[in-house]
Amino acid sequence: MISTAQIAAGYKILPRSNRSNSPFRYPGGKFYARRLILDEIPPHSVYAEPFCGGASVFFAKDAARYSMLNDLDKDVINTLRQIRDRVEDLIDLLAGLPATKQKHHFYKNCYRPTCGLSRALRWFYLNRTSYSGIMRAENCYWGYGRKYSMRPENWPPHLRTVSDRLQGVELTTLDFEDVIDALPNGCFAFIDPPYYDADQQKFYNCTFEQSDHNRLAECLRRNANRILFLLTYDDHPAIRETYKWVSEMHDRTWNYTINRTDDQKNGLKLKDGFSRGREKGRELFIRNYHV
Ligand SMILES: C[S@@+](CC[C@H](N)C(=O)[O-])C[C@H]1O[C@@H](n2cnc3c(N)ncnc32)[C@H](O)[C@@H]1O
Repeated sequence: MISTAQIAAGYKILPRSNRSNSPFRYPGGKFYARRLILDEIPPHSVYAEPFCGGASVFFAKDAARYSMLNDLDKDVINTLRQIRDRVEDLIDLLAGLPATKQKHHFYKNCYRPTCGLSRALRWFYLNRTSYSGIMRAENCYWGYGRKYSMRPENWPPHLRTVSDRLQGVELTTLDFEDVIDALPNGCFAFIDPPYYDADQQKFYNCTFEQSDHNRLAECLRRNANRILFLLTYDDHPAIRETYKWVSEMHDRTWNYTINRTDDQKNGLKLKDGFSRGREKGRELFIRNYHV
């Protein structure tokens, strides 16, 4: 990880291009809230996401002088690494693959990856073709729709843009506490943990318990005088109580549309009236700085 001394010495890696969208569909991702979040990000030269997932905020913002993305889920980080370092090899493996239920079944149940690249192929294919991008095996169902999902012919150009954006970005697969404690002074961290009061265990491969929420609160408290953070959480009385010491806590709401095409788990399809839904996102934005 980059040190404060390296930053002070002007250590600088800039990606070749700037904003894009996440390469992934990600449950609990901040794609639809990204503009609200961008409005609250302070000036910074070092940027960190200890719970990056699909990293929608990282991809939506301007590049910092130095950025680091972390997630405990090794497949998420492996796929980002392969996109960063071997994008043309990954594109070659994806070439000609159609988005079909049969292929989804094959990659989910039969395909045995043998290296980081083939693991990334499997993960990326399933992520792009699964319902809401949910990758936890027991909830990973076919969920691709030609009208609403990114088509396979558009995967390569998008992957190349994402790869450009990831150049020079540090990617780690650590527990959040190790990341936050090691952040250099003055850096900005966008912190988006699993929800406090939601059944997110069914989305992610890493579980997040009450003790982890407590650890996060303690970790932020001991680092609050040396880093800037924006923490997003579901609005729960326990979260309001835990973070009442933080200077800024605001309700934020945003609209989004769910483009569902096929909910295999519940056997519902478009013709059953299972389609687009207008939803409202609502979360607490908690930050230790003024904007
Ligand atoms: C709400 S999601 C992040 C979504 C992301 N902001 C986006 O826009 O796609 C939370 C992430 O935390 C990760 N996670 C769970 N436990 C973790 C831990 N102990 N340390 C680091 N990451 C963890 C999960 O794998 C998941 O990707």
